[in-house]
Amino acid sequence: MTTQQKIAVIPGDGIGPEVARASVRILERIAAARSLPLTFDWFDFGAERYLKDGTILPDGFMQRLRDEYAAIYFGAVGDPRVPGNEHAKGILLAMRFELDLYVNLRPCILFDDRLSPLKGKGTNELRFTVFRENTEGLYTGTAGTFKKDTPDEIAQEVEVNTRKGVERIIVAAFEFARANKQTRVCMADKANVMLHGHGLWRRVFAIVAKRYPEIQAKAMYVDALAMDLIRAPESYGVIVTNNLFGDILTDLGAALTGGLGIAASGNIHPDRVSLFEPVHGSAPDIAGKGKANPVAMALSGAMMLEHLGHLREAKLLHDATVEQVREGKHTADLVPLLGGAASSTEEVSAELLARVERRLAEG
Ligand code: NAD
Ligand code: IPM
Ligand code: MN
Repeated sequence: MTTQQKIAVIPGDGIGPEVARASVRILERIAAARSLPLTFDWFDFGAERYLKDGTILPDGFMQRLRDEYAAIYFGAVGDPRVPGNEHAKGILLAMRFELDLYVNLRPCILFDDRLSPLKGKGTNELRFTVFRENTEGLYTGTAGTFKKDTPDEIAQEVEVNTRKGVERIIVAAFEFARANKQTRVCMADKANVMLHGHGLWRRVFAIVAKRYPEIQAKAMYVDALAMDLIRAPESYGVIVTNNLFGDILTDLGAALTGGLGIAASGNIHPDRVSLFEPVHGSAPDIAGKGKANPVAMALSGAMMLEHLGHLREAKLLHDATVEQVREGKHTADLVPLLGGAASSTEEVSAELLARVERRLAEG
């Protein structure tokens, strides 16, 4: 008997539930047609639940994820009614930290020349993959405020860089490059200012790079890299960086490849329960209007299928979604790039489902 693979679906806030509904329907169809052992359990954690009964994540939930689930399929969190975003930290960041999802894998691959905002840069030039460290850096909450609300107030966040944490993300980036025949790995840091933390990144990068002689390794300051990604994106294959710089560079990467509506990601601990989500947030400005682009969530679903070992189905969903972007209906966010009229979330996802069905029927 095949082992069941349980997926915890956490749609979250804003457009999260809209894109989650659209994509789970497609994943369920693929699972049924190909007899994949997937089951989907829905959880209502997010702003609404938090405001109703104070629950962020219930006691024991993290352990359940570790013990029972193969993956987490996540929408987005963030709600203007929770101004400090404490539920988002307690849900998304807590899963990244407590499940030790140290690889934040964010591909920035252009699917069609028309999606590029850069003159003369198309699908051959815009194809890099970011490995963002996902468990430390400036995100750990090693922080505090002293003399709050006085003229002498001191506020600080400490950047945490551990040798183990730095080494494992750099190794993951090189391993990915090797496995995917990428010839270049670039590390982004600010070692000219952050002598200790980023000095550690530089030293470890140099040591690890020696084990991959076939790969060109280059360390860059993040400000220079941000500029160069606009000027000469074709120079980059794999980029590895810390938590905050990775957050910023991947929104830039999304803007270079069609926008947040189509940018997918994985939060991964190899061989353990991992989380897949769009790069975008809850988009309160368009929530409830049927305007959310479901493509980022669908592509994140393809990444999840790949992580779960369903390589053919992952490719099927990925290819159908890319074809949808190139040839099918699209939501309003893509109109400035692709022209044409704006379709709704439902219209795009129904057409994507039809493309998936066609491929399933072809065998
Ligand atoms: P956002 O990604 O939610 O939205 C930025 C812009 O992109 C908005 O104009 C939005 O309409 C547009 N956009 C985003 N996703 C889209 C989609 N699928 N289709 C069409 N347009 C889309 O970022 P923000 O506005 O800075 O943040 C809103 C909230 O989401 C905040 O609370 C933030 O903390 C949270 N957030 C959560 C995550 C996450 O859960 N992973 C990621 C980023 C932001
Ligand atoms: C992302 C988001 C998150 C981050 C927020 C919502 C905490 O911007 O996943 O990119 O900063 O990591
Ligand atoms: Mn972000």
